[in-house]
Amino acid sequence: MQDQAEKLREMMERMGAPAALEKPTGPSSCRLIAVTSGKGGVGKTNISVNLALALAHKGKNVLLFDADMGLANVDVMLGLIPQYTLLNVLNGQKRLSEIVTEGPGGIKIVASGSGGVQELADLNESQRAKFLDALMELQHQAEVILIDTGAGLHRNVLAFALAAEEVVVVTTPEPTALMDAYGMIKILHRERRDPQIHVVVNMASSPSEADEAGQKLVVLAKRFLDLKVEYLGFLLRDPGMVRAVKEQKPVMLSSPMSPSALSLARLADGLLSGKSGAVDGNLFQFFKKVTQIFVGKD
Ligand SMILES: Nc1ncnc2c1ncn2[C@@H]1O[C@H](COP(=O)(O)OP(=O)(O)OP(=O)(O)O)[C@@H](O)[C@H]1O
Ligand SMILES: [Mg+2]
Repeated sequence: MQDQAEKLREMMERMGAPAALEKPTGPSSCRLIAVTSGKGGVGKTNISVNLALALAHKGKNVLLFDADMGLANVDVMLGLIPQYTLLNVLNGQKRLSEIVTEGPGGIKIVASGSGGVQELADLNESQRAKFLDALMELQHQAEVILIDTGAGLHRNVLAFALAAEEVVVVTTPEPTALMDAYGMIKILHRERRDPQIHVVVNMASSPSEADEAGQKLVVLAKRFLDLKVEYLGFLLRDPGMVRAVKEQKPVMLSSPMSPSALSLARLADGLLSGKSGAVDGNLFQFFKKVTQIFVGKD
């Protein structure tokens, strides 16, 4: 665990800390929440999609931003075939507002397109400024922007996780996933002095197993990092979640009264009732940080 964290620390130092923001803009009430994990395949995309739907169901104007370049991405899970993706914005063919796709349940979606996020690294200064200006439009389109990231301590994941005001760290109760989740929390703590971290335990076999795992992370973060991490809640292992992926119909839509859907609704409640709403999200600053982190090369 320590090795992994140390390695990443070195990598972050090579990348250089994000430079000071030159172009501050007024605060916005838009909340930026990155969903990430240490270990892969722990359920980030499923949770992002369903959490977005749950928040929309509670009356929030939600935009789901796919920052994952993996194959099992947001549009596949929703059975959507987006006509345009972030790639079209990066190569100047489309404005960002033109690629926002209407998803089910009233959510909006920005699809990544394979390789799209990586291309942020290749923008020159003026392209980057243009891109950031375009991104300003997004914050007027949503109250909550959920960002589904890839897994692990890679720059393309960290850029989003480090830039977001709030981070949902997803883990399973398995020791390896917990260790990697702790590694991610440690990095967030080192690189951002005030990370607001919510832990979600997924695929637990019982509530007590989930609670034990969640509390473990809370205690570890407190004891070794002196960091307050919030245990937001859990989802049990549910064959219905697997079926939902195959059928490309998220549980929040296909079985809204199922235990998993109810757990997801509770997670959404937790996010909405927390103090997190007080954070001043600013999309311009957020993406400026993201692209600054990207621009550093290994
Ligand atoms: N609560 C659950 N119960 C059962 N299976 C689940 C649950 N949550 C997710 N899964 C399954 O786990 C697999 C991985 O889920 P998902 O793609 O959401 O993970 P991920 O963290 O986004 O992965 P990656 O790191 O590759 O982006 C999927 O096959 C999904 O159906
Ligand atoms: Mg994923």
